[in-house]
Amino acid sequence: MAASAPGKLILFGEHAVVFGEPAVSTAINLRTEVFARPHREWLVDGASLDEPRYKYVKRALERAWRGGPLWLEIRSMIPTGAGLGSSAAVTVATLAALRDLERRDLVPESIAREAFEVEHDVQGRASPIDTSTATAGGGILVTPAAEDGLLWSIRRDTRQWHLHRRSLPSLTLVVGSTGISAATGPLVAGVKERVDRSREAAEAVHEIGRIALDGLAALEKKDLAEAGRLMDRNHVLLNDLGVGHPALDKLVAAARPHSHGAKLTGAGGGGSMFALTDEPGKVAEAIRAAGGKAYLVQSDPVGVRRMP
Ligand code: MEV
Repeated sequence: MAASAPGKLILFGEHAVVFGEPAVSTAINLRTEVFARPHREWLVDGASLDEPRYKYVKRALERAWRGGPLWLEIRSMIPTGAGLGSSAAVTVATLAALRDLERRDLVPESIAREAFEVEHDVQGRASPIDTSTATAGGGILVTPAAEDGLLWSIRRDTRQWHLHRRSLPSLTLVVGSTGISAATGPLVAGVKERVDRSREAAEAVHEIGRIALDGLAALEKKDLAEAGRLMDRNHVLLNDLGVGHPALDKLVAAARPHSHGAKLTGAGGGGSMFALTDEPGKVAEAIRAAGGKAYLVQSDPVGVRRMP
């Protein structure tokens, strides 16, 4: 049995969304596939399930699987630790493959809820943006109050996130990866510490939330100049929250002369940036010349799905 799920790009609002602020993401056309079948012992890609790189898969199995041992195989186009949602995609695809093995329907809302719990368990703190984007596909708006287009609402402790479908214009985006992989959990914990002790950091989180709503409005109007300006400001604020990296700044600076805007995406601390541009070839070249890896990605409407 096999299932696949897409990676994601957070367009606006990463980190602030963990505090309940609005954020906007899109699924992208890079996917992770998970194959699962009963076997005599537990194996993932022929290796032990206890290897740290399989921690999301292991937690998903602990939460969702009551049967005997399985042989799992993971095939992924999404670079790991790069801020492109590889953990969420593998979690969602694993949960879907397990449901498929049990001949249960793939109910997106139930997969999104369970995948969020898995990510939260592994990372210690999380919002549901990555896991819900990998589940639903397409453009996603997260807000603290329900609006039109509501997909589902997810609560954890005192926080509630409302996840909405938003149809974004078809976007070709250039991602630049630093090649420095950074774990999300410690970065999210670092932002919380900063917000708890600094009023400026708390204000930066609120400003990022406002930028996310304005950025979405700009994208919906196809005002790419305004969306790009807001991306640039969002990048500055993420640096103020301590999740930037000199290598990210270098790629962002290289991309900007040919872009409407550029910012880090995902957890930061390394990982990736992306640029909104009408000249993807030039931006990719500039990112490579600055020492990054460049990928052209497209927003993609297809969320989790069973594979034939
Ligand atoms: C990571 O892709 C996004 C963060 O906002 C964490 C989260 O929302 O769980 C940094």
